Amino acid sequence: MFALVYTILRRSVGKVWVEFLSKLLDQQLCVVTGAANGIGRAIAERFISEGADLIVADFDIETAKKVYEGNSQVVDILKVDATDVKDLEKIAESVEKTGRKLKAILPVVGNGPQNPIPQITPEEFHLVMDLNVFSAFFTVQKLLPFMSNKSSIVLISSIAGFQGGKNAIIYNAAKAAVRSMARSFTGELAKKGIRANAISPGPTETQAFTEFVHGDDKMRNNIISQLPIGHIGKPSEIAAVALFLASDESSYVTGAEIIADGGFTNK
Ligand SMILES: NC(=O)c1ccc[n+]([C@@H]2O[C@H](COP(=O)([O-])OP(=O)(O)OC[C@H]3O[C@@H](n4cnc5c(N)ncnc54)[C@H](O)[C@@H]3O)[C@@H](O)[C@H]2O)c1
Repeated sequence: MFALVYTILRRSVGKVWVEFLSKLLDQQLCVVTGAANGIGRAIAERFISEGADLIVADFDIETAKKVYEGNSQVVDILKVDATDVKDLEKIAESVEKTGRKLKAILPVVGNGPQNPIPQITPEEFHLVMDLNVFSAFFTVQKLLPFMSNKSSIVLISSIAGFQGGKNAIIYNAAKAAVRSMARSFTGELAKKGIRANAISPGPTETQAFTEFVHGDDKMRNNIISQLPIGHIGKPSEIAAVALFLASDESSYVTGAEIIADGGFTNK
């Protein structure tokens, strides 16, 4: 009996120890914007489960508080409009207060309305560029002084960034710019030990995707039929790629783009 209890105890203590050692972002400070919902939230939740400490930022502060308040690994929850540089500076101030260096920055905010070419107004053009390109660039720029010499920038582009596609010309162009920025960050920042990569998700099950298909099941099923992998991507499947790129598991990967689209662009 004693031998049995001893063996069970040793095994369970060993398991806990192995789990502790295998956490990919243990006590590493990371910033995720757009963290209240969708892909940003899935990334934040996965990073927390991998031991990261997080500063999360989102426009939707009510949801962000509901999700993260009381979590000891969440250092700060900020209401931020990622298209406003002053708000992005608030994230930098929050990092500065910790006195710690950042392991990873993930500017996830992005979106774009669907409109045909003749209907696109200058205001819409600027909004889409601001949401996707400006927000990603200035989030990185403001946080650069706090990045460690073994850190990572993970940008969220889209398959829209290398495909054409109707009614989304500005979003497509904006996501192409995001892919491009990952490559340009690479050359300029490599000497500082900072890697930069992009993820290009295909259709992923989030609120933004539901709005894209207008809740129309026929349109949804049509997209599924074009996905060789047979299902619409889950936010957690994008988060797994983000974890790889943010952690030292990808130490030799920089200036790259990982397409996570279930084969959509290679059918
Ligand atoms: N869902 C998809 O199919 C898909 C595919 C390819 C790329 N993407 C990209 O992935 C990223 C996340 O998309 P998602 O589908 O999770 O979107 P989502 O709309 O589900 O979530 C976006 C989050 O960003 C926040 N947000 C929006 N505007 C903001 C602003 N100005 N400032 C601060 N926060 C703001 C929202 O409150 C929300 O919490 C975006 O960059 C999007 O372009 C999504």
